[in-house]
Amino acid sequence: MLFKWKDAYSCNVEAIDQQHKKLFEIGSKLYNIVALKDGADHYDEIMDVLLELKDYTIYHFDFEEALMEKHGFPGLGAHLKEHNSFIDKIVELENEDIDEKQRKITMDIIIFVSNWIEQHILKSDMQYKDFFNSKGVH
Ligand SMILES: [Fe+2]
Ligand SMILES: [Fe+2]
Repeated sequence: MLFKWKDAYSCNVEAIDQQHKKLFEIGSKLYNIVALKDGADHYDEIMDVLLELKDYTIYHFDFEEALMEKHGFPGLGAHLKEHNSFIDKIVELENEDIDEKQRKITMDIIIFVSNWIEQHILKSDMQYKDFFNSKGVH
């Protein structure tokens, strides 16, 4: 399953793992809407999940960035750029004509979130794992 959490995804910081799990859950919600294939109108559900994705992501990014700043993580600048490009992309998707192309755009968001998990959570976020642990953050 695309959005199934594995222990290998853990960055060894409890609060951040919980937040990442939540992102997986939101991805699953989108996947479940697409998997219905019932041809019905899911506009309201899609918009609700997209809003949840945006709000949660902003909360999570703020949390990570504040923790990096507090402990002087050297990769903060580059990490921030990745976060900002993620938010930009969500806003871009939000502004598309979702009502007309529900299935296609939902698929685009699912692919985007799964790429994000692979490229950011499993690569960029992992770069702070040892750093935070060495600062006593678990
Ligand atoms: Fe993260
Ligand atoms: Fe991050």
